[in-house]
Amino acid sequence: MRLVLYTGKGGVGKTTTAAATAVCAAQRGRRTLVASADAAHSLGDVFEKKLGPQPSELAPRLHAVEIDARAEMARHWGRIRSFLVDLLQHQGVEAVVAEELALLPGAEELTTLLAVEAFARTRDYDLLVVDCAPTDAALRLITLPDIAHRALRVLLPLARAVAGVAVPIARALVSMPLPDSAVFRDADRLLYRELRALQKRVTAPTTSARIVVTPERMVIEEARRTYTELSLFEVGCDAVVMNRLLPSTAAVEPFFREWARIEEERLREVAELFAPVPVLRAPLQDDEVTGLERLAAHGRRIFERVEPDALLSRAPRVRFDRHGENYRAVIPLPNAEPGRLDVVKIDDELTITTGPRRRCLKLPRRIVPLDVVSAKIEGPSLVVCFARAAAGGP
Ligand SMILES: Nc1ncnc2c1ncn2[C@@H]1O[C@H](COP(=O)(O)OP(=O)(O)OP(=O)(O)O)[C@@H](O)[C@H]1O
Ligand SMILES: [Mg+2]
Repeated sequence: MRLVLYTGKGGVGKTTTAAATAVCAAQRGRRTLVASADAAHSLGDVFEKKLGPQPSELAPRLHAVEIDARAEMARHWGRIRSFLVDLLQHQGVEAVVAEELALLPGAEELTTLLAVEAFARTRDYDLLVVDCAPTDAALRLITLPDIAHRALRVLLPLARAVAGVAVPIARALVSMPLPDSAVFRDADRLLYRELRALQKRVTAPTTSARIVVTPERMVIEEARRTYTELSLFEVGCDAVVMNRLLPSTAAVEPFFREWARIEEERLREVAELFAPVPVLRAPLQDDEVTGLERLAAHGRRIFERVEPDALLSRAPRVRFDRHGENYRAVIPLPNAEPGRLDVVKIDDELTITTGPRRRCLKLPRRIVPLDVVSAKIEGPSLVVCFARAAAGGP
């Protein structure tokens, strides 16, 4: 099963491109599901059909769905959430406010991903296309399993240990609501089964993110950062789609000739920035791209030379090399800005921060006793060298 996630800055054409990809793939024989993971669903508008949380068949082999994160959340987080609401209310927080406060950060994104994973597991489809929310929310979505898994791995045993000792005593002494074993069971299920499965799915070689851009500087700049951050979390990006490119006939007009020249320049720039990831070209259409027919025509133009579900570029993985007694980690981090980068080794983990994102990379056992002696950008990678701490001292 192939999973393709479309992201990019607001309004660049993510939903249109995701829908066109799905229509094209279905017409070329793939059993396809396109899912909207953006709370501001517009997939239905693009298809000119009302969509719901259950897949609707729009054409042979083509299904579409709008994931209802709120409804899914009740199913996955019900018990943990109602415990938090009870607890807050007991502390004198008004019911309505308690409901708001108990909205766990990240829960909505996580729930959306769980729904994606459930569809991926059905084996009913060859291709699952996900229309994500604009960049920031999409990155939160994609990087969340890694972050949540880490947080829960630390917090859960701690909470369980405290509850194991304190709950029986406390139950006799105070009237405060206390977590029961069902709350822990839910959290365990989330940690050990679902988060792990999600993490595996988003970093699988069959999963790719595709970044949609328009030939505008700010859009390209944001895409460049997205590419770096996706790489940090080992999510492969297999294509960039440059949308709204002027038709070649437009260059006849002197006014558009200048636009066409700038576009060519931006196309070259994007090709260089993202190399070896290919840039697919999507033309500016003469009207909004809605309805099956227009989407199919648009998809045919984007995928003139490649298949919509093909793995268009293979992302390099984190690699550890040995050099005698010392080791080197080569972490793909294309376009990383050294000024926004921070690398620290804490115990058995290497923490890499680039701008707002942080990844904690578990180190192989042999590297754990070594110290970081250098960390620098070499081409598209961050190279971190490890060596035994110098003996001696005062
Ligand atoms: N190549 C194109 N030619 C003409 N119109 C386009 C093209 N691509 C997108 N559009 C139009 O631009 C508008 C925005 O597109 P779309 O909804 O796909 O963007 P989006 O990135 O999903 O936006 P949002 O960030 O709001 O989710 C829509 O009206 C769509 O029909
Ligand atoms: Mg959209």
